[in-house]
Amino acid sequence: MVDKIKVENLSCYYNKKCVLGSLSISVIQNEILAIIGPANSGKTTFLRTLNRMNDLNLTYSHRGEIYLDNNSIFDMNRENLRKRVGMLFAMPTPLPMTIYENVVYAPKHLGLISKKFEQDVLVEQALRDASLWNEVKDRLKSSAMKISGGQQQRLCIARILAINPEVILFDEPCSGLDPISTTKVEELMIELKRKYTIVLVTNNVKQASRVSDRTAFFLMGKIIEIDTTDKLFVSPKEKQTEDYITGRFG
Ligand SMILES: Nc1ncnc2c1ncn2[C@@H]1O[C@H](COP(=O)(O)OP(=O)(O)OP(=O)(O)O)[C@@H](O)[C@H]1O
Ligand SMILES: [Mg+2]
Repeated sequence: MVDKIKVENLSCYYNKKCVLGSLSISVIQNEILAIIGPANSGKTTFLRTLNRMNDLNLTYSHRGEIYLDNNSIFDMNRENLRKRVGMLFAMPTPLPMTIYENVVYAPKHLGLISKKFEQDVLVEQALRDASLWNEVKDRLKSSAMKISGGQQQRLCIARILAINPEVILFDEPCSGLDPISTTKVEELMIELKRKYTIVLVTNNVKQASRVSDRTAFFLMGKIIEIDTTDKLFVSPKEKQTEDYITGRFG
C-alpha cells in the first residue's frame, strides 16, 4: 500500500485560533478515505488545506507538512497542485454556460487541449466517466443550469476528471441531492477509486459506511479514531466514536 498523501503534525488556525491540532494522517493510493464528524470539527478546513484552497485567506495559517507522492505541497506551484488534486463542493457549482463548455473550460484554460476533435473526445470521455453521458449526449449545447441538481453534481465531477487529476476531494457531495442522485454519486465514487485516490467528507455516517475503505472520525479539530471502515463501524475503540456513529452524540 502506497501513501498518496501524507500529513504530518498539521495544525490550522483562523485568526490565530487553532481549529485543527497537530493531525497526522495518510491517504492510501486508490482508497476512499471518509472523514466524518459533527459540525465545526475541522473537516472542510482539512480538505481545503490539502489543495491549498485557504492560501488566499489572510486570516488563515497552518503549521506542519503535507506530502503528495513524497513532495511537499507547499513547495509546489498552486496551479499544478490543483491540477493534481481536484475538489468538489457540497452545492453543485456549474459555470453558467453549456454542458460542453463546462467540461472543456479548465482544460482549455490550462492549455491541455486546443483542437476541436480533442475537445469532443475529452467531453465524451469525461461525461462517460462521470456516468452522465447517456443523460446529456443529445443536449451538450444546452445550458448546464437547466439540468437537475444531481446531474449538475456529476457534471462538476466530469469537469474535475477532464483535467485528469490524481486525487479528488469531495466535501459533502450529496448533501443537496435526493436519494436517487445520491446513489448515483456514491456508485460513481466507488467506480472512480480504481483510477483516483479519494477523500470524502460526509455528514452522513451511512454514506461513509457504504462507500469508504477507511474512516477517520474528527472531533473538535482532532482525529479521535481512524480505522478500516468495517472495524470502525462494527467495533469502534473510542466511546466518542461509538456515540457519534450510533447517533447518541451531544
Ligand atoms: N473562513 C473561516 N474564517 C474563520 N473561521 C473559520 C473559517 N472557516 C471555518 N472556520 C472555523 O473553523 C472551525 C472548523 O470549521 P470547518 O468548516 O472546517 O468544520 P466542518 O467540520 O467542515 O463543519 P461542517 O460539518 O459544519 O461543514 C469552526 O469553528 C469554524 O467556525
Ligand atoms: Mg464542512
